[in-house]
Amino acid sequence: MANRIKINAVLNSSEPMDDVLIKGWVRTRRESKTFSFIEVNDGSSLKNLQVIADSTLDKYEEIKKITTGSAVSVQGKLVASKGKGQSWELVASQLDIVHLAPEDFPLQKKRHTDEFLRTIAHLRPRTNKYGAIFRIRSELSYAIHRFFKQRGFRYIHTPIITSSDAEGAGELFRVTTMPLENLPLKDGKPDYHEDFFSQEAGLTVSGQLAVEMFALSLGDVYTFGPTFRAENSNTSRHVAEFWMVEPEMAFCDLAGNMDLGEEMVQQLCSYIMQHCQEDIELFARFVDKKLMKTLESIVDTPFVGLPYLEALDILKRSNKTFEFEIKEGLDLQSEHERYLTETHFKKPVIVYDYPKEIKAFYMRLNDDDKTVAAMDVLVPQIGEIIGGSQREERLDVLEQRIGETGLSRDSYWWYLDSRRFGTVPHSGFGLGFERLLMLLTGVSNIRDVIPFPRTPNSIEF
Ligand code: 4AD
Ligand code: MG
Repeated sequence: MANRIKINAVLNSSEPMDDVLIKGWVRTRRESKTFSFIEVNDGSSLKNLQVIADSTLDKYEEIKKITTGSAVSVQGKLVASKGKGQSWELVASQLDIVHLAPEDFPLQKKRHTDEFLRTIAHLRPRTNKYGAIFRIRSELSYAIHRFFKQRGFRYIHTPIITSSDAEGAGELFRVTTMPLENLPLKDGKPDYHEDFFSQEAGLTVSGQLAVEMFALSLGDVYTFGPTFRAENSNTSRHVAEFWMVEPEMAFCDLAGNMDLGEEMVQQLCSYIMQHCQEDIELFARFVDKKLMKTLESIVDTPFVGLPYLEALDILKRSNKTFEFEIKEGLDLQSEHERYLTETHFKKPVIVYDYPKEIKAFYMRLNDDDKTVAAMDVLVPQIGEIIGGSQREERLDVLEQRIGETGLSRDSYWWYLDSRRFGTVPHSGFGLGFERLLMLLTGVSNIRDVIPFPRTPNSIEF
């Protein structure tokens, strides 16, 4: 009995093989007088393997009933294909039906809209496009670990359940074991002393504060994990559960941080273009005709560094009508970000030195007392893909900033401790993993690059 081989290995074979066993799901079946052509896909590659089932096979009457979506196991001979568009085909000597899918399998051979496929998110990985997305997603995860490993960074697992709101933006999902229908109250408010942790807890919005503690001991570190934000923004770039890559470097300033961000985006694009060629081509053909050009220019051209105030000038001088106001002290909106990177510079832009009022408390205050050493990397089609900063390493300034932003110093006591004992300049950033996948594939809705998207009013799967 032959050992099972994955279809990508079969298709890459350099010579015919006498005895091959493959298993997978049927994409289509066509019938001629004396045999059936069956296209089988096992998820190992975009391409299907064409199986030829001759009418002399055992149970041929059953084989004739095989439907799209059925699972099969096929043993046979790998021979050079006479058909166009494929090099090999499998002439079956034995074909077993593992499971016969009923006729109402929703993914019949025709093009489905992304909106429809979101309603069957449990089946969409069986389509070409979604199979490709999730293969790329997997390769990209590996490429991220590889990128850091090559540079001597250590991988830190920061907690998912936390008591601190790292961004201070109040977007925490609450974690509790208290009975909601009979909530213990004290002075009319939930009594968290009765809760599992004896205090308020939530899902992490960023691993940064925790990973900083490890940068201040192991040097260069990163965390890469799920992140949760209860922001009620129903956009094509936000989900409530996403993955973030957060490097943090001791003895590193904002310039070094920007360099790492640029290098990382370039290297990851280049890795995926090399290692996921076949899957990326699908997106370049059917999703975004300019994809290859966009990716090549990201890899080849240095990013633009642009102070926040200069960004405002460019936007004001653009003569374009924006929905949101452009004024010193206000944050850049997605339309502004996209104008800068897509229209004005036509390449990635790193905006830095933002007003302190619109950024988190932990960012390092610049000498002007008005701005902080923050940086956002903006890319075409998406806008912000990276947000980061040099961190405030001076205890007194940090304490003051926590006070100014209305947060409680007590709950950040351990974070402040790190500025008491051997504090050093350090920097880091967060890269939105799904946003990078959107950039790499040209997919315009973040819901379509994550297996089961979580958005307001939507958690079916
Ligand atoms: O700019 P953000 O909020 O930065 C931080 O959380 C820092 N603590 C990171 C750090 O310095 N270690 O988020 C970082 C990135 C954004 O640029 C964006 O790409 C992504 O995370 N992101 C989201 N992606 C999908 N859905 C959401 N709701 C996102 N919010 C942020
Ligand atoms: Mg940000």
